Parts: sequence; structure tokens; C-alpha cells
Amino acid sequence: MSNSRIAGFYNLTLAARCAKLADAAGLTPPDLAAWTSGGLSPEAADHMIENVVGMHSLPLGIGLNFQVNGRDVLVPMAIEEPSVVAGASFMAKLARAGGGFHATVSAPHMIGQIQVINLPNVEEARLKIYEKKAELLAIADEIDPVLKKFGGGARDLEVRMIESSPIGAFLVVHLIYDVRDAMGANAVNTACEKLAPQIEAITRGKVHLKILSNLADRRLARARCTIPVSQLTVGFESFKGETVRDGIIAAWAFAASDPYRAATHNKGIMNGVDAVVIATGNDWRAIEAGAHAYAVKNGKYASISTWGKDADGNLVGTLEMPMAVGIVGGATKVHPAAQAAVKLMGVKTANELAEVIVSVGLAQNLAALRALATEGIQRGHMSLHARQVAIAAGASGDLIEKVAAQMVAEKVVRIDRAEEILKTYTSTQVHT
Ligand code: MEV
Repeated sequence: MSNSRIAGFYNLTLAARCAKLADAAGLTPPDLAAWTSGGLSPEAADHMIENVVGMHSLPLGIGLNFQVNGRDVLVPMAIEEPSVVAGASFMAKLARAGGGFHATVSAPHMIGQIQVINLPNVEEARLKIYEKKAELLAIADEIDPVLKKFGGGARDLEVRMIESSPIGAFLVVHLIYDVRDAMGANAVNTACEKLAPQIEAITRGKVHLKILSNLADRRLARARCTIPVSQLTVGFESFKGETVRDGIIAAWAFAASDPYRAATHNKGIMNGVDAVVIATGNDWRAIEAGAHAYAVKNGKYASISTWGKDADGNLVGTLEMPMAVGIVGGATKVHPAAQAAVKLMGVKTANELAEVIVSVGLAQNLAALRALATEGIQRGHMSLHARQVAIAAGASGDLIEKVAAQMVAEKVVRIDRAEEILKTYTSTQVHT
């Protein structure tokens, strides 16, 4: 991918946008067809889950202007909410002026949990498990030869004591597993189940649950960006750059201190994160669970991003969150639309995918905070929302834009008003 800036993309027809992507990212007609047709055949869907009756689709938009670690990337985003794709693309453009996004990930280490109950002596059992750590790791290491071939496998084992619970004290063994380019749930769950008999023999207790933890805090993705103050007023020329910057920092301070605001702030981040996670066929519930659990890491639910200024007065944003995504296995491998999404991004590893996703989350957060700290989100949001309302009222073709534009001009974006406006057009057509 040479350039993620495609001038005038917004104004092109759907077919022309696809042609641009084919040029820019080397997508083939079957890749593009996977998106325009929804991608999954009813037969494939029937093998994926139970009681299938059909398909449920979402719009797929392209996040433009992204530069992550110096590389341009076009970002596929599956989401039903207006303004998200436009917001991310706009902020990615501002971030480019400050060098784009700089992202890193930790090793792809997932945590598997093994609960051990009915222990005659909890402390003794804890130490006995540590005495057998090497043997247990060796057993867990063998469960997936393919993963092992690619450098994955069991990495560490920790034993946590839950001293007080409704059933009294028990142990939790944490198996740390390197899952490479997979999301990892299958490998980790299999390894935990495999260790259960050995752990029972060692402790003389009973192994109860054996399951992956979605608080994947050993598998973090981090992004930062620097926005020159001059960029912050693009589109908001009546504001001063310093005012916008300080407004964004004050908005973040709200989310850093108040869980009610933090939930909404983090939801804005997840608008971007989930859109890419869904487009690439990954498990967005796992990513949501991880993000919100991580938001409580200091004992109180808070923002997972930070916003401040550097020595030169530029706005600086950071985001750190668990990112258990894969590019092998699961829906990512069998869903043609997800495969085309991964191809579009040109990512070759799960780590690269995680770096793009966390950057999109940060861009999305900036879009929301910049709007909230200046004119509020309703003006921008409403003009897009108005189109959906116009369609819901029955408008089609040219009438969608006409009805939407009138509602925005009147500042009344409601279905009853859309129906009234639509009637004026349709009755005119009947008489002419
Ligand atoms: C709406 O989907 C997301 C926002 O509420 C995020 C935020 O308030 O930061 C705009």
C-alpha cells in the first residue's frame, strides 16, 4: 500500500470506490465481490453456527489517511453508526501532520485459568504446583504442533490464591501461552483441559473451570500520536488551536476521574476498535470484555486513553488496551469478506493487525473529544443520521439527500418530519 489518502473517495460511487481500492491495494474482483455480496455463503454460515436462517449484514466503510509506524494503511470498518468512519479518517489526516500513529504490542501471550477447589491445604497445594511447573509446561507445550512450529507454546505458569470467596479459599493456576497469530482461545482452552488431571494429582483437589481469560493484559497493544496545534482547528476555524487542545485535555480529565463519563469515552474508542475487529472476522465481545476490564486496572473504572501536551505544546494522545486478535483460524480464515479485509490492510501478523486497530481506536477517541470540546457532536452526526432517517421514512435515490438536507437545515431530524417532507416531493411528482 503506497498511499492511504485517496482524494474525493467520499464523493465516488460505490463501484468507483471499489476500483480505487483494487488499484491501491491489489484487490481482485473476488476480493471485492466478497464485500459487495456480504461474502459468506448460506452453506458456510450453516457450518459456522447453529439454526442458521440467513445472513445479517453491516455497512463496510474504509478508514482513510492512516499511517501506522510509517506505513500507509487503508482500514476496513464494519459498523452501522454514521460519523465513525468519517471521524476516524479525518483524525488520521490530522495525525499524519504529526508523523501518524506509533504503535507497539507486547508478545501474543494469552492467559488460561484453571480453578482448583476442595483443597485440603491451599498453601501447600500452591507450592506443590510450582514444584511441578516445568513438567506442566512441557505437557501444555505439546497440545498444538502447528502453533509450536510457528514459535508458540506454553511460556509460564503462575498460581494465584483466592483467599476469600463464597466457597472459601481456592487456587487459580494461570497458564501463560504464546498464541502467535491466532486469537488463541482454542489452544489455551485445550491446554488448560489437558493439565487438569495432572493438577488434581499434584494437589489432591478438584479442578473445576478450565478457560481462557478475556482480561488479556499480557497481550497489550499501544498507540500514540502527536497532533500539531495548527491542525486542531481544521474544520473549526472559528476556534483557537490552544483552546481546542486544552478542551480535549479537559474532556479526557473528566473520563479519567468519573466512571460515568469514562464508560462513554471508552465506548467512543470501541466504535473504531470494534469496527475493524468485526471487519476482520475477530471476536469483538472478547475485545470489549478485555477493554472494559482493563479500564479498572487501577481499582476504579477510568479512561483507557490519555491526552496531554508535549514540550512544544502539541496535543499528545496515547491508548493502551488488551488486543486478542488473530489472522489465522476462526472466522478470519473462513469468511471471504474478513480475508479481503486483512488483504486490504496488508498486515502479515496478528501483531500488525493489533497495531492498526489500537491506532484506529485512538483516532476515534480524538474525533469524539474534538467534536465534544468544540461544537458538540450533533451537527456533524445529525447530517449523516438524517440520511438514515430519510431512508427509514421511505426516501430513495436523490430524495434521500434532499429530505436529509431539509431536515438538517430545519434542525429537525425526525421520522415524522422526514415523512412530511417526502410527501411534498412525491405529491409534486404526481402533479408534474
Ligand atoms: C458515540 O457513539 C460515541 C461518543 O459518545 C463518544 C464520547 O462521548 O467520547 C461520541
